[in-house]
Amino acid sequence: MSIDPRAFRSALGCFATGVTVITTLDPKGRPVGFTANSFNSVSLEPPLVLFSLGRRALSLRAFLSSHDFAVNVLAADQQWLSDLFGKAAADRWAGLDFETWDSGCPILPGAVANFECHTRYTHDGGDHVIFVGEVGAMAYDDQRRPLVFHQGRYRDLP
Ligand SMILES: Cc1cc2nc3c(=O)[nH]c(=O)nc-3n(C[C@H](O)[C@H](O)[C@H](O)COP(=O)(O)O)c2cc1C
Repeated sequence: MSIDPRAFRSALGCFATGVTVITTLDPKGRPVGFTANSFNSVSLEPPLVLFSLGRRALSLRAFLSSHDFAVNVLAADQQWLSDLFGKAAADRWAGLDFETWDSGCPILPGAVANFECHTRYTHDGGDHVIFVGEVGAMAYDDQRRPLVFHQGRYRDLP
């Protein structure tokens, strides 16, 4: 069976996910980030997570050269952040409020959860690169509703 890329995309869209903004610092210490729904858990002990980043992404170099990244799991009222980091923009960080922990990677306030990670492995993932990170610090608020992405659209949990 040959897999048509458009049909494949639609089939993958049946898998509902959360939405994250994943951040790092470039070699000059400037914040970099992009919207990702490829975030997933990998291992509890050690605590590992993963995401995949397209080889054409402008932020790829920064993620490959940095040793750390932060995952910000967006809340239902943060769709605007997903839009901001999900398409090309001149300066995504202008006027944006964020904290930093140990690594300096931007931690976005108001998220459902934040994970600060040390990059452990990168793997070939076809037209993407798979990053696996070990979580060193985290915060979460399980009372907040997450932003949900399904079949190319944002959803809210009922
Ligand atoms: C909901 C959503 C999820 C996305 N998930 C991913 C992803 O997991 N991996 C990826 O490479 N791009 C993903 N994208 C696309 C990138 O966010 C987008 O291409 C972004 O402009 C990349 O930024 P950059 O070129 O500055 O690195 C997603 C976009 C949206 C809106």
